[in-house]
Amino acid sequence: MVNYNLNKSVVFVGLMGAGKSSVGKRLSEEINIPFVDSDDEIELAAGMTVMEIFEQFGESYFRSGEERVLKRLLSERPQVIATGGGAFMSKKIRTMINANGVSVWLSADFETLWERVQGKKTRPLLQVKNPQKTLKDLIIKRTPIYETADIILHSKKYGTHSSVVSKLIKLLILQGKLERKYG
Ligand code: S3P
Repeated sequence: MVNYNLNKSVVFVGLMGAGKSSVGKRLSEEINIPFVDSDDEIELAAGMTVMEIFEQFGESYFRSGEERVLKRLLSERPQVIATGGGAFMSKKIRTMINANGVSVWLSADFETLWERVQGKKTRPLLQVKNPQKTLKDLIIKRTPIYETADIILHSKKYGTHSSVVSKLIKLLILQGKLERKYG
């Protein structure tokens, strides 16, 4: 197995269904660096699911938990982090990511995202009368902010998760954020 040094956390951003956790886990396995999902960490800290947090305390309570969790994760040694789709919308979180990580936007079109999220009961923002419209509105509203990420990978272009990961490893090495360890 090839071993790597990661100089900064790799932070996946992008909409629900973009594949942040799946691609993140795959990258983590490939470079042998730990993976963490900020939604999982929020659930662990709260002892509740994201759905329950939204239902019982509302979105702004969730967002402050999200900010605290990302602050902690970004202060740890470099790792692979998948964020929830809304995290990068926070200026504070973006500033923390810029200071301690490299942001990677996994971009996907509406059809791909919808195929992955439809019917799932785990995303509070989509438990509405017209979730397709909500998802389309989120794409329009969030794209200009996701576009400010350090690295942008379009899932259509690379197809499979493993080709997204290979491309990302090459880019991270080129940018000096990931180094192969020999010997
Ligand atoms: C959200 C995305 C979810 C989760 C929460 C809010 C968002 O994460 O953080 O439901 O605002 O887009 P995923 O992107 O992992 O589904």
